[in-house]
Amino acid sequence: MCGIVGIVSDHGVASRLVEGLRRLEYRGYDSAGIATLIDGEIHRKRAVGKLSALETKLEAEPLAGTTGIGHTRWATHGKPTEKNAHPHGGAKVAVVHNGIIENFSPLRNDLKDKGVTFESETDSEVIARLLEDELAQGSDPMRAFREVLAKLEGAFALGVLFAGEPDAIFCARKGSPLALGKGEGEMFIGSDALALAPFTNRITYLEEGDWAVLSRETVAIFDGAGTPVEREETISDASAALVGKGRHRHFMAKEIEEQPEVVAHTLTTYLNPSEGTVNLPETGIDFSNISRLTISACGTAYLAGLISKYWFETLARLPVEIDIASELRYRDVPYQKGEAALFVSQSGETADTLAAMRHAAEAGVTVGAVVNVTQSTMAREADAVFPIKAGPEIGVASTKAFTCQLATLACLAIAAGRARGYVTPEREAELCESLLKLPRLMNDVLAHAEEFDRLGTLLQPARDVLYLGRGVSFPMALEGALKLKEISYIHAEGYAAGELKHGPIALVDEHVPVIVIAPRDAHFEKTVSNMHEVMARGGKCLLLATEKGLEAAKTDEPLLGSFAMPDVDPLFSPLIYALPIQLLAYHTAVHKGTDVDQPRNLAKSVTVE
Ligand code: AGP
Repeated sequence: MCGIVGIVSDHGVASRLVEGLRRLEYRGYDSAGIATLIDGEIHRKRAVGKLSALETKLEAEPLAGTTGIGHTRWATHGKPTEKNAHPHGGAKVAVVHNGIIENFSPLRNDLKDKGVTFESETDSEVIARLLEDELAQGSDPMRAFREVLAKLEGAFALGVLFAGEPDAIFCARKGSPLALGKGEGEMFIGSDALALAPFTNRITYLEEGDWAVLSRETVAIFDGAGTPVEREETISDASAALVGKGRHRHFMAKEIEEQPEVVAHTLTTYLNPSEGTVNLPETGIDFSNISRLTISACGTAYLAGLISKYWFETLARLPVEIDIASELRYRDVPYQKGEAALFVSQSGETADTLAAMRHAAEAGVTVGAVVNVTQSTMAREADAVFPIKAGPEIGVASTKAFTCQLATLACLAIAAGRARGYVTPEREAELCESLLKLPRLMNDVLAHAEEFDRLGTLLQPARDVLYLGRGVSFPMALEGALKLKEISYIHAEGYAAGELKHGPIALVDEHVPVIVIAPRDAHFEKTVSNMHEVMARGGKCLLLATEKGLEAAKTDEPLLGSFAMPDVDPLFSPLIYALPIQLLAYHTAVHKGTDVDQPRNLAKSVTVE
């Protein structure tokens, strides 16, 4: 996902543009650039690779200018090269873009027919060339900007400079978020509040189709029809301090360690510890009146949803349809009246999840958003919002957001069970008590986190790894495999333990470590016997189970490794077993030397299809 920043000020902006881009690094990128206006002329600096490459260029050739825009690019059209890096344009305009211009080919061909030449392979450059073409036809910047916006199809957040307009940044949003920030005698634009955290906490989010013109002292916002509009200014809580790594080597390590604290915060948002009850926000979903609940998300958020399916079915006897958002959005789902749906997303901006939510809403379904970013597009469009309270998650691999999603969904499932008459007050109190124990149990696991440094060396040399689990531990097997894949680049697959003998066991030999997730639940014995099937074929197993479970699973054949887990209510075991899963992936990746916080090819939030 690309990142945008812009500053219109009365003093130099180049270094602060780079500082704003640094707060967007977590989104993943492969090149960066800035442009500023110096005496009304546009000057650009771009570099492939990390921001340090751009900073090196700026140290050698500093950019003056009190108005500027910056961009970190996550390549969609065209390889990561300096020519493909943003800002695009030339002497007359500079453009930074986040999103995809879906009709860029016909637009590009029309311009080529007029003799316009292109220097990059990107869709974004077509915006700059269209603006130049409008200026060449005599339009002033405002008219040129409006005319070009009307031609663009797809998703975009834009920041634009025009030569000769030293006190103006033009910006727009359609499908990709864009925040405006107000300072003292200066204004800002950014892809999110985090980018602007070092400069201001006075944030105004553009709405779908809005565009705006910022000067040092003024902000003029217009809706898609060109009508002047006011948008709400909020005070952002994404302070600059929150995005430091502290004493940790990686954001991921910091965020793994934060989980007891943030999960406790999430639980106390939805539970009343003294009364042992769940309290949902008023604008919630009436679970007593729905015939079916659909749950959808992507990646790790989807796996949180998959775990919650077990909870809604068990506690609320509620039929649950679940699918990954990139499939659900294109299925011809026979939604019926009186249904509800939950869409789970840390960023609240994932294109597929947002599209699936809009598709369900259009079908008359009551849609709830389980999100971390409460000012996100999904949060603003949903009928009900359930914040997960994880705080900013910077590491691309989702850790604390996952367990906070689970904590939130567990509370929703209990509330649904109560609303539908299946969870008595006594049972509700029991469930709340089980949940409120989790932060302490998480701390118990983290107290032995260093053990995973050694266990990580066991996986580091592997080419393939399998994860096994049953019941709510089956989605945990999928999540374990996803975590390992995405940060260590080792191929891994998660399987329902009962499914192994239907084919995948052919993969097993002494070179394929098998991670077995076996909390003390109704599936324990069967899971352990599946593990013994693996070991009988030379497979090397790493068992995650309680002390008693490790004892019960013992055979003459030694395990590759094991980790003793605390006793936990089996229903909510995923919130605890997430920790060894995350730590195993983290330490394996550290031993492999991969970029743990910004793994190759990945972005923190995928706002493109
Ligand atoms: C999780 O480790 C991944 N980074 C990824 O699967 C992520 O969960 C997915 O892209 C969904 O993102 P969202 O929660 O912001 O919608």
